[in-house]
Amino acid sequence: MNRHAFSFGLVVVATTCLSLFYTEAGFGQTNPEQGHDMGRMEETGAADIATGKMIYRMTCIHCHGSKGRGDGAAAIFIGPYSHPRPNDFTAGIFKFRSTESGQLPMLEDLMRTIREGIPGFMPSFRNLGEERIRQVSLYIAREFIQKELPTQTTIKYVEHVGPYTYSVESVVRGKEVYKRLGCFACHGLDGRGTGISLKDKRGLPIKPVDLTRQETFGNGTSHEDIYRTIMTGLDGTPMPGFSSQFKGKEESAWDLVHYILSRQGR
Ligand code: HEC
Ligand code: HEC
Repeated sequence: MNRHAFSFGLVVVATTCLSLFYTEAGFGQTNPEQGHDMGRMEETGAADIATGKMIYRMTCIHCHGSKGRGDGAAAIFIGPYSHPRPNDFTAGIFKFRSTESGQLPMLEDLMRTIREGIPGFMPSFRNLGEERIRQVSLYIAREFIQKELPTQTTIKYVEHVGPYTYSVESVVRGKEVYKRLGCFACHGLDGRGTGISLKDKRGLPIKPVDLTRQETFGNGTSHEDIYRTIMTGLDGTPMPGFSSQFKGKEESAWDLVHYILSRQGR
């Protein structure tokens, strides 16, 4: 293991312990089970924000920093000169959204990122429970983003059912879509990346993800996750959103998803 990976491991262990401690301590008076109640989901009371702040200070601040600018004390271990670093929440540019490119994420998008984590960069905080995940998301929105988050998206999410599920024919069509939309320009014809040098919004070098290794995808690896990534793109990186190319023929995005999944381990 190189020093970089080791340091990251330490940070993850430390933060996971903290969040475990937090869960054990049973902070706040809310029951995590109540997080599933849609009525409560809409509440943005001061008590929620205050609990969210406490969670942030115990669990997130080391990487994301006290002002949400991604400059916490531990962020340096993730690689001061490498990508990706914890993002600057105050800049309002988010990678993992279900909304159009250029828009803010929905609250549920922040919650999903926190729940699932980001492989290699941020641990999953699932053990906080849905209610606390919601509270810390509200805190980030209020304190750092400081704008109203969208509550719906204009992107059409076609269900992955019936004729749109996996088939060999779909993979063959997906390969054509991959070529037609120019994915190969960055990801290469074999999906492994072309080695072209790209930069993210901070001017730091960034590599197109190796599409044959889904374990490295930050935005999730389920069919639905990859569909969402393709539609929305990853703002702040060169990965564009393709929702306009799929307008009116959203089903064919599933062909592309199937093609990517068929390439795993190749
Ligand atoms: C070990 C360091 C670390 C800890 C601890 C951490 N994060 Fe992160 N977080 C990151 C990194 C690194 C990124 C950027 C990864 C990327 O851009 O692929 C990130 C990104 C995010 C994003 C934005 C993703 C996007 O859409 O661009 C959110 C939201 C987030 N973190 C919330 C949290 C919350 C809430 C906590 C505490 C419960 C937390 N993080 C704890 C390292 C951390
Ligand atoms: C202009 C270059 C470029 C083009 C064109 C492009 N990508 Fe990407 N893509 C990237 C970069 C760069 C990343 C890595 C972003 C990161 O590390 O956060 C990426 C990441 C991804 C990911 C992984 C996302 C994750 O969860 O981490 C998938 C899947 C993906 N691209 C699919 C596609 C598909 C399918 C197409 C064509 C429809 C495409 N890309 C076109 C540059 C590009």
